[in-house]
Amino acid sequence: MSDVAGYLEATRGMYDTVAVSYERILRDELDGKPLDRAVLAAFAELVTASGAGPVADLGCGPGRVTAHLARLGVEDVFGIDLSPGMIAVARSTHPGLRFEEGSMTALDLPDGSLRGALVWYSTVHTPPEILPAVFAELHRVLAPGGQLLHGFKVGDQVWRREQAYGHTVSFDVYWHDPDLVARLLTEAGLVVDSRTIREPTASELPTQGRQAFFLAHKPETV
Ligand SMILES: C[S@@+](CC[C@H](N)C(=O)[O-])C[C@H]1O[C@@H](n2cnc3c(N)ncnc32)[C@H](O)[C@@H]1O
Repeated sequence: MSDVAGYLEATRGMYDTVAVSYERILRDELDGKPLDRAVLAAFAELVTASGAGPVADLGCGPGRVTAHLARLGVEDVFGIDLSPGMIAVARSTHPGLRFEEGSMTALDLPDGSLRGALVWYSTVHTPPEILPAVFAELHRVLAPGGQLLHGFKVGDQVWRREQAYGHTVSFDVYWHDPDLVARLLTEAGLVVDSRTIREPTASELPTQGRQAFFLAHKPETV
């Protein structure tokens, strides 16, 4: 089994187990995070200005942020997630939105087809050595001028967890180095437009550390 296959299998199995609990625990999480909502609002404005075409929430989980973007007025927004359990929860929770199974490492989307991609904490289980493959795929599916928002945990540690969302599971959580993320996005052909980094909020464990939100776009001419 390749490293990619192993990461995908472990992540899919874990989220299938926790999907219902995750949706219940995280459903109102953005309410207490004004800065996170601000970067999502900036992304919504940028994709709306970037023209027509679908916007994908990649690693959408239960679709709570997909629905947030739809409420912000982003048209043609849909979700993709690795976990069939998460997709089932997303479809039942947000019946007016479209959700499909798929992996950011090999998306079933045509080249240049997205005007926007949101990657909101969906690389938190991706080993750093697999990030270049994910970013190359983002570059492939984004249209020229297409916008990316990537939210992730800041650091360089990996944490093996055996419990999550009230379930016994086994999976790795990765914090990513912002300089590495910026370099890899650039090497993938994307232009990094902004890096927002905030401290943990009161509701987050101090061990969560800083959180990063990078806006980037695919240049018009490549
Ligand atoms: C921490 S959750 C975040 C979910 C959602 N973005 C949110 O903020 O509620 C991580 C999600 O990323 C998904 N994921 C991880 N790796 C993925 C991949 N390669 N392709 C698609 N989804 C992936 C997981 O299945 C999980 O639903």
